[in-house]
Amino acid sequence: MKKISIIGAGRVGETTALLIAQQGLCREIALLDVREGAAAGAALDIMQTAAYFGFDTQVTGGSDPALIAGSELVIVTAGSPRRPGMSRSDVLDINRGVIDSIVSQVLEFTPDALLLIVTNPVDILTWHAWKGTGWDKGRVFGQAGVLDAARMAHFIASETGASIKDIHTMVIGGHGDSMVPLFRFSSVHGVSAASLLDPAASARVSEQTRKGGGEVLALKKTSSAYNGPAAAVCTMVDSICHDRKRVLSCVSVLEGEYRQSEITAGVPVVLGRKGIEQVIELPLNEEELVAFQGSIEIIRADLNAG
Ligand code: 2OP
Repeated sequence: MKKISIIGAGRVGETTALLIAQQGLCREIALLDVREGAAAGAALDIMQTAAYFGFDTQVTGGSDPALIAGSELVIVTAGSPRRPGMSRSDVLDINRGVIDSIVSQVLEFTPDALLLIVTNPVDILTWHAWKGTGWDKGRVFGQAGVLDAARMAHFIASETGASIKDIHTMVIGGHGDSMVPLFRFSSVHGVSAASLLDPAASARVSEQTRKGGGEVLALKKTSSAYNGPAAAVCTMVDSICHDRKRVLSCVSVLEGEYRQSEITAGVPVVLGRKGIEQVIELPLNEEELVAFQGSIEIIRADLNAG
């Protein structure tokens, strides 16, 4: 890819830019932030790692929206973060306004790009951004399940002692306490996690996965997680830039899949150079379906509230 823009030079945006540059996923990264100097300073700091990491990606930063012109992918991390005790929905009103103004910049300067939303509440804001752009649904999507799956993998590794490299996980639904870790569709060295973990261990992993982001925030107090989110975004960017067509859980608009429509939710998708190229419909059992539908209803309530 030639150019990627990241809107929001907070910790998630800055760390994402560093990872994308380190992995050489594009020639140019534009980092944008309304706070004068924040993006320019972050860009300069990242460029000063290039000598040791050996990347040629040029990272520039500033507050002029025209900086994003020519981007093939725009990643949105801007918005008000959660404070301890706040749910992701609590920041909805503030961040909906942020997304509105970003969508108009994107429409003006990068009308042909893909749009990846990271700002919370990501399920609702992805829907809002998609509506705002009027684009094909595959071009507007959100990051949630890739991070949640990484957390689930970490907790399964802790329970089993297995190498993280041998663990594959899948989490669907909303990016909140109602998310649905799918043990039948997760595996440890090829063996289904549903058969490997006893009910108590599964319950612990589910709870830890659901509370994963909140636990980091509660411990740090002044910052949400950012290494995990940035690694998850970078994993999606890698699949897009290399057109790998990996199956990753992403926030996608649903138009009939899983018998749902007029909604966005985390589901496995094929992610490639064109964005979401296919939604994968897993053969969920009754229990999984009920949990997924419950999560959808929580997203729908937030959508309708807006
Ligand atoms: C997380 O789960 C902040 O949503 C982000 O850590």
